[in-house]
Amino acid sequence: MDTSTRHTIDPACRDWHAHGDRLRQAGPLVAVEVEGVRAWAAARFATLQAVLAHPDLSRDIRHWDPQARAGLCPRTSVAKLVLDTSVLNAEGQAHRRLRGPLVKAFSARRIGRLRPSIEAITAGLIDRLARRPPGPVDVRREFAYPLPSEVISQLMGIPPELRPRLHELNRVLARVGAGPQDTGAARTALRRMLAEVIALRHREPGDDLISALMAIHVDDGVAFTAIELADTVELLFIAGHVTTVSLITNAVRALLAAPEQLALVTSGTLPWSAVVEEALRWDSPLAHFPMRYAVRDVEIDGVTVRRGEAVLASFAAAGRDPEHYGERAGHFVLSGSAPGHLSFGHGPHFCLGATLGRLEAEVALSALFTAFPQLAAAVPPGEVQPVGSIVGNSARTFPVLLG
Ligand code: HEM
Repeated sequence: MDTSTRHTIDPACRDWHAHGDRLRQAGPLVAVEVEGVRAWAAARFATLQAVLAHPDLSRDIRHWDPQARAGLCPRTSVAKLVLDTSVLNAEGQAHRRLRGPLVKAFSARRIGRLRPSIEAITAGLIDRLARRPPGPVDVRREFAYPLPSEVISQLMGIPPELRPRLHELNRVLARVGAGPQDTGAARTALRRMLAEVIALRHREPGDDLISALMAIHVDDGVAFTAIELADTVELLFIAGHVTTVSLITNAVRALLAAPEQLALVTSGTLPWSAVVEEALRWDSPLAHFPMRYAVRDVEIDGVTVRRGEAVLASFAAAGRDPEHYGERAGHFVLSGSAPGHLSFGHGPHFCLGATLGRLEAEVALSALFTAFPQLAAAVPPGEVQPVGSIVGNSARTFPVLLG
């Protein structure tokens, strides 16, 4: 690996898009250091697409060079993501075994049936907003975050008495006004609470996702191990929550900054799904996502990744690649035929929650802008604080005036 021009990926970065521009310009794969770990970053659309589907780049951490892995600091966000044993970090047969049941659970048909309850939860949140005294409201905290938290809690069959505490933990994990030290403690508490729920469902199975996952005996007759189940349930909470919160927040920000684009949907010229797709492309909820490891020496776009080296996906950067998107790359432009994106991944690990995330965002945005046609940003665009992690790409808070 060429270390002479190593770029640092700093969790405190204020603008992942400016950073992404530099990474794309530096080459197809760029040597980076992130929270003490060395890796390659794939920030160009075509390179990222090749990386995500490459058969010799594995999510299985056992392919990572042990020496490089020794640099992993346990409390960092990178460590938390690469060390879990969920579907996300499995490969090959092990991946198919963990993913199969989830594909069924998240099928478009099953998710489509959730629409009425997503609409009802959204209507409740809108009501609450409408009753607030005049003045700025943090749309991330008061609207974007409770929606997916409530939806996933219903899906998982979390008992109602545990939900307020769970939403509070989710609020911290979604970095609604929280610092990195709070998120470590919140994650431990979430884990403990989910273990309680899993134990409860062992005793009293219900008509929920956790019970369904426990009941499944897959192809070879092997069920999830206790650790796999716990990691998978936790992944669904975290991966499915923060990302959706950020998607909704980013879309609201984009629309308020581009009234002529907003008019295209409020007038009915384009559907709300066009907003969701463009927000995913132009302002991906994920800045980066760890990590793939080379099973053998691999050449990608003229760069050799040695066996055991790690490759990081830079989603936010790929969404604005002018090589792929041409002149529209840096602009939020709604259109009837969306140009596609990699923000849900590509290949065998393609996001299992894509249909659910899209549906939640579509319902949320259309309800919000219909209820509050005078909605306006309460802060200038430059004053918005980023979430402050290498993974998330969104505003930590986004105050708006409901009008
Ligand atoms: C995987 C993004 C919502 C569950 C992924 C991946 C991306 C992603 C990029 C692929 C990672 C890789 O290739 O290494 C997003 C975004 C969302 C979102 C931008 C915004 C709405 C959700 C939701 C859920 C979910 C709502 C479920 C409740 C998962 C799971 C995986 C995954 C389980 C792992 C799939 C596998 O490894 O086979 N997501 N996600 N995501 N996502 Fe999402």
